[in-house]
Amino acid sequence: MTSLATGTGPATAPGSVGAALETVSAATNDGYADLPRHLLAASDLSREAAIAVLDTAERIDQAIAGREVRKLPTLRGRTVVNLFYEDSTRTRISFELAAKRLSADVINFSAKGSSVSKGESLKDTALTLQAMGADAVVIRHSASGAPHRLAGWVAGTVINAGDGTHEHPTQALLDAFTLRRHLLGGAVRDRVGNGLDARHVVIVGDILHSRVARSNVTLLHALGARVTLVAPPTLLPVGVDEWPCSVSYDLDAALAGADAAMMLRVQKERMDGAFFPTAREYTRGYGLDLRRRALIAPHGIVMHPGPMNRGMEIAPAVADGEGSVVTEQVANGVTVRMAVLYLLVSGEGADRV
Ligand code: CP
Repeated sequence: MTSLATGTGPATAPGSVGAALETVSAATNDGYADLPRHLLAASDLSREAAIAVLDTAERIDQAIAGREVRKLPTLRGRTVVNLFYEDSTRTRISFELAAKRLSADVINFSAKGSSVSKGESLKDTALTLQAMGADAVVIRHSASGAPHRLAGWVAGTVINAGDGTHEHPTQALLDAFTLRRHLLGGAVRDRVGNGLDARHVVIVGDILHSRVARSNVTLLHALGARVTLVAPPTLLPVGVDEWPCSVSYDLDAALAGADAAMMLRVQKERMDGAFFPTAREYTRGYGLDLRRRALIAPHGIVMHPGPMNRGMEIAPAVADGEGSVVTEQVANGVTVRMAVLYLLVSGEGADRV
């Protein structure tokens, strides 16, 4: 495994960022050898590979903490393209920030204002980006499976930043990183090398349309956590019984003693029918208010991937209250995406296939 500071000369001097990150390279976790070339779905990561990503994010966080210039030279000379066909605030900005903090050249492509409006296909857009030398393409698309198609057309690494109702693997990784920080202890040594064994995470809401839920169930299961999904029957996908988790319609019972409640946005824009009678009725059955918040374990945390429908799936007093880690999730997203870009784009991923 190459160092995060490979080829940077003085950066590897004792006490430098490079020296601090040598500890990542020295890690013996087999997961580093098990990393995929592309990150298209949470299932691309074995337990060991997922832990390798989380551990790398911990080391990156350690290496840049307290530094005036929070930048590493690792991807200098590499080009990362953010290809966003669907709206995003958190994911787009955090991938851009992550790539820039690794010193990559970053191109932000938004379908709006591009030749997509003239009818250019995803394939022709991808080939155009490849001709310009993209080493990695981070793609968000409203069509489930678009990142998989892209991976067949371009030579560089493809990272799925959310495709339709299918997968959002880096959201699941940043959620796991946040869970590990809160549930495994305050010291890095308590977390590195560990999963989330026996921790109970309750995921609540619009499971049917949620790529966050799909990726989280897969990743949390791989990391050893117990997952319970809670939703009205109309917002559960066909085949959910086959997923590695339990399903409940009783939110109060599911939350009792849980380590975390992950609330999901009701995705009105993907709904073409009446999935519940009224917003008020949804909130009564599946919203997290202060009474329900008190059912979670005392050390438990409240999560939401954002954007939130305040007052619907989560009460403002809970979103902004004790144990809410919503903004921490956003901050952790930058660190975790730096780890993903570093591990997959620095050359290690491509060499392994
Ligand atoms: N959580 C998430 O994917 O948010 P954005 O849609 O703002 O990227």
